[in-house]
Amino acid sequence: MPIETALHLTEAPADEKDDAELTAVPFGGDLTVDVRLPVPVPALLAHHEAKGEAGEIVEVPVTHGDAVRRVLLYGVGDRSPAALRKAGAAVARRAKGRRALDVTLPRGAGHEGWTALLEGALLACYTFRIGADRTKAVAEIRVRGPEQAAQALRRAEVTAHATALTRDLANMPSSEKNPAWLAARAVEVAERSGLTARVWEPDELAAGGFGGILAVGQGSASPPRLIELSYVPDDPDGAHVVLVGKGITFDSGGLSLKPTDGMKFMKTDMAGGAVVISVLGALRDLGARTRVTGLVAAAENMPSGSAQRPGDVIRHYGGKTVEVLNTDAEGRLVLADALAYADDVLKPDTVIDLATLTGAISVALGRDLGAVFSQHEDLVKELIAAGTASGDPLWHMPLIDEYRAALDSAVADIANIESEGKYGGGAITAALFLREFTGGRRWAHLDIAGVARSTADDGVYTKGATGFGTRLLLEWLAGA
Ligand code: BES
Ligand code: MN
Ligand code: ZN
Repeated sequence: MPIETALHLTEAPADEKDDAELTAVPFGGDLTVDVRLPVPVPALLAHHEAKGEAGEIVEVPVTHGDAVRRVLLYGVGDRSPAALRKAGAAVARRAKGRRALDVTLPRGAGHEGWTALLEGALLACYTFRIGADRTKAVAEIRVRGPEQAAQALRRAEVTAHATALTRDLANMPSSEKNPAWLAARAVEVAERSGLTARVWEPDELAAGGFGGILAVGQGSASPPRLIELSYVPDDPDGAHVVLVGKGITFDSGGLSLKPTDGMKFMKTDMAGGAVVISVLGALRDLGARTRVTGLVAAAENMPSGSAQRPGDVIRHYGGKTVEVLNTDAEGRLVLADALAYADDVLKPDTVIDLATLTGAISVALGRDLGAVFSQHEDLVKELIAAGTASGDPLWHMPLIDEYRAALDSAVADIANIESEGKYGGGAITAALFLREFTGGRRWAHLDIAGVARSTADDGVYTKGATGFGTRLLLEWLAGA
């Protein structure tokens, strides 16, 4: 169970009889703090040199009968959703190991601000443990706020739990998580979320001509799958979006084997696919009006006697041939089939793919920003806006047409990596490779290799999978 913390809304102000050990109230700007404290609030804040920044907390012990309780004065910064998300996470972290936390919402922060604060609090309570549990997250958060905050609370729950599902799927070790396992989880999500699901078994992939997915999966004892989930809204707006996720359940590199350091976190190489599953699962709860189809191209990239070899040529869905110069550039091979299938059969208005595609993107952008590649400027704008609002920020990277020549192959239509090292820009050439399979549709590629995993417990992130992309796409597809 990823987030076990319960959220309740109560309109009544916290009173003496309440048994919460911790009471959190906002401070900063013109906010007034309505709680009885042993020292006047301005003097307290001055004493602690508190500025009211988001994430800042001044902890004040107060007497309660014979016991001591604590009031947490939490800073709210500029009261933007980003600031309040950070504030919510800080408050929830401070309540670790406690039974109950009482949080007063900042007045006037609005629906979006309240949602962000509560979402931040829930996400900070996420844990993934196999075996004994360490310090538990706070069991219950009681939210003091007006009746109108109920909607914000509900939305925060849906987006946080969807993000937690993405994290759970990505954190699961590959000893358990193979393509069939991932497909089974997707089918469960479909059953409880009113989606239809189709799972393509290996023989169906062969009959359908999905040569990329099959080639990547052929070295593994756990054969590949293509997962298709579809959401049909009750009140459709007429648009159809396809989401495509990279679902490599473990990336050893294949015969182009990675060193241990490059391999040890590769259970999360299906993070893009996990986002697709979780987003589809939350659309009905959020009342999304766009028809959405999710495709997860799932395979395990392993070296063996049956593995594909550098120099092999594969035939993708739709007939394009690819020379595999490096078996570790496998994500683009499974995505190519799914993109070509989407173009040919699903014929959507817009296609978005998400993939932990290249180490090169984390060199370019580091760990805080995801990359969006697209030549559809309006789509880029929409996605960047959704990313900023939801807390999954994106940076627009270029598709440089001149670099396409890097992928020319002597024997096939295209090669899967640059062979000569003349162009560089590994994240860009990877995106250009994918573009070949999109049929010129309105398309964006999100390279999330740098942001899918966090190296530390920090703010809304827990060490391990971040769920990056889940909140972004839910905002884009079902934003307020
Ligand atoms: N899954 C990796 C990319 C990756 C690297 C994700 C680090 C997360 C953290 C991908 O399949 C890969 O191996 N890419 C290669 C491409 C190269 C062979 C052209 C890379 O980035 O080294
Ligand atoms: Mn790889
Ligand atoms: Zn990979």
